[in-house]
Amino acid sequence: MPRSEPLKKSLDVEAVFQDRLTQVASDIEAQLDRLLGPGATEGELARPARLIDAMRYVALGGGKRFRPYLVVECASLFGVTREHALMAGAALECVHCYSLAHDDLPAMDDDDLRRGRPTAHKAFDEATAILAGDGLLTLAFDILSRLETHPEADVRLKLVMALARASGLGGMVGGQMLDLAAEGRFDAAPPKLGEQDVKTLQAMKTGALLRFGCVAGAILGQADAARWNALDRYGSVLGEAFQIADDLLDLEGDPAKVGKATGKDAAANKATLVGVLGAAAAKRRLDALVTEAERALAPFGGSADVLKAAARFVATRSA
Ligand code: IPE
Ligand code: IPE
Ligand code: MG
Ligand code: MG
Ligand code: MG
Repeated sequence: MPRSEPLKKSLDVEAVFQDRLTQVASDIEAQLDRLLGPGATEGELARPARLIDAMRYVALGGGKRFRPYLVVECASLFGVTREHALMAGAALECVHCYSLAHDDLPAMDDDDLRRGRPTAHKAFDEATAILAGDGLLTLAFDILSRLETHPEADVRLKLVMALARASGLGGMVGGQMLDLAAEGRFDAAPPKLGEQDVKTLQAMKTGALLRFGCVAGAILGQADAARWNALDRYGSVLGEAFQIADDLLDLEGDPAKVGKATGKDAAANKATLVGVLGAAAAKRRLDALVTEAERALAPFGGSADVLKAAARFVATRSA
């Protein structure tokens, strides 16, 4: 084989990953546009225009759509119909977008810019931003419970339970509570978090939703235990990597590219692995996590090459 072959192969895989991410982003935009469209859902008495406008503002027109990509890519390992994967992906993206709108509120991270645009409470007002988040969170479970998501009720129920747990007390919301508590805002002398505490906090606030994205593929694909566990492991490792990359972007990223303010975490006393380990060690950790993520996919052989590229993307992204 000529010496350039392995390099060419790896460039091809990165290109396939980018193409698929772009395709999912466009499909999810269309899907959310439809799900938040003008047609009333059965049982609806009225549709407050300001609320639907704010929900559309929060959910449409931006974001990498990496979580729905994970659902689609992981589900495709089992030959799941793309329409089903896109429904589950849309539900997950609704929870993610709601978490961003609430994360940006003055009472939380107090940010003015998100996805290169004014945050929801700046474009509307605080109460509307809160309600838009509430509306998207509940819509997520409406979507998962629909026949369109999967013909088998047992599969839909598993998706509902897994997303509820990833989103709530022991998942994203719980992690956000720990994140704010670590700033010291509820306690004059907050305990200094060590590496393990920060890992737990981040596995909850960020890891849980990314992990759900991977596990949702296994649920839709009715995977056996070995392949289910492999995706679960891949999702947890990817989640840890994702937040380290986010924290590095806060430190070193270009605000014009990331579409949100940078340089805020240290000033706000955020508990991050970059803060605990330093940037250089956090970058080494990120590299190790990519290797771990690739290894977790071993049971899938070559059919998971694009998911391996997805792990490399998480570590090297500039937005
Ligand atoms: C940002 O998530 C919030 C974190 C959990 C780190 P993303 O980086 O996926 O944001 P979008 O969806 O692409 O805007
Ligand atoms: C966000 O963490 C986690 C969420 C659950 C939204 P950050 O607060 O670091 O996310 P950004 O940097 O505002 O996107
Ligand atoms: Mg935050
Ligand atoms: Mg924030
Ligand atoms: Mg951040």
